[in-house]
Amino acid sequence: MFLKTENVENQRIYNLVDKDFRYAKVLDSFGINFYQYPELTINQVCQIKGVDKNSLLGYRLSLDESFDLDFETLKTSPINLVIEYLKHNHSYFIKNKLPYIKGLISKLDVEDKLYPFFKDLKFIFPLFYEDFVDHILEEEKFIFTHIQNLSRTKVKNTDHAKLFFALKNISLKEIADEHMNEDSEMSGIRGLTKNYSIENIENLHLKVIFQELKDFDQELEIHSDIENNILFPRAVELEEGITEKIRNISFLN
Ligand SMILES: [Fe+2]
Ligand SMILES: [Fe+2]
Repeated sequence: MFLKTENVENQRIYNLVDKDFRYAKVLDSFGINFYQYPELTINQVCQIKGVDKNSLLGYRLSLDESFDLDFETLKTSPINLVIEYLKHNHSYFIKNKLPYIKGLISKLDVEDKLYPFFKDLKFIFPLFYEDFVDHILEEEKFIFTHIQNLSRTKVKNTDHAKLFFALKNISLKEIADEHMNEDSEMSGIRGLTKNYSIENIENLHLKVIFQELKDFDQELEIHSDIENNILFPRAVELEEGITEKIRNISFLN
């Protein structure tokens, strides 16, 4: 934990968020924009907004508790659990993480000549968002569903005929190679922000945006790693096994 919660309630919001950007997210979750009350303390803002201070501080502590499954656990988990876990990540990105960052970006008005790149970030972020949602939709509707069908057929050892045409039209091997070789969707934003460096950034609102983007980038890397190194190798193995099985059935007939 970055800051002991006992010390934070009398600190100015500006100082608190500057030391620990996650407080900006915590305040946001309670309907408070940190940048509107930089001079108030947590105690004061909680009183004004009628928020229970202990719930707010408790929520900050809970953000340090990870509910993530580690790589080794996922490696030995059934493929359906891996898919459920990846879908859970998707929903967290789309419903929680990205709307928050989008809100932060759209509410920051930097006239400041110091940050000329911010105009580009404001322009590029919605485009990235759109591409990212498309990527997720394609995975969930098309790829994950196909892998789950293969897995069901393997477990039940039935319905091979139903998969015959799907296997002709979809190559998980190709999809896996493409996924492995494609650049991170965040590469443009990484370049624009010089790898999220906050060294020369004074504006606190912008600092929080950079730290949130960096955090998301790291979470996305882990997510893609699970897809590339756990899900897809196992899905390709399933695809090969079932293709072989169908070939054998047709030879027998
Ligand atoms: Fe994904
Ligand atoms: Fe992906």
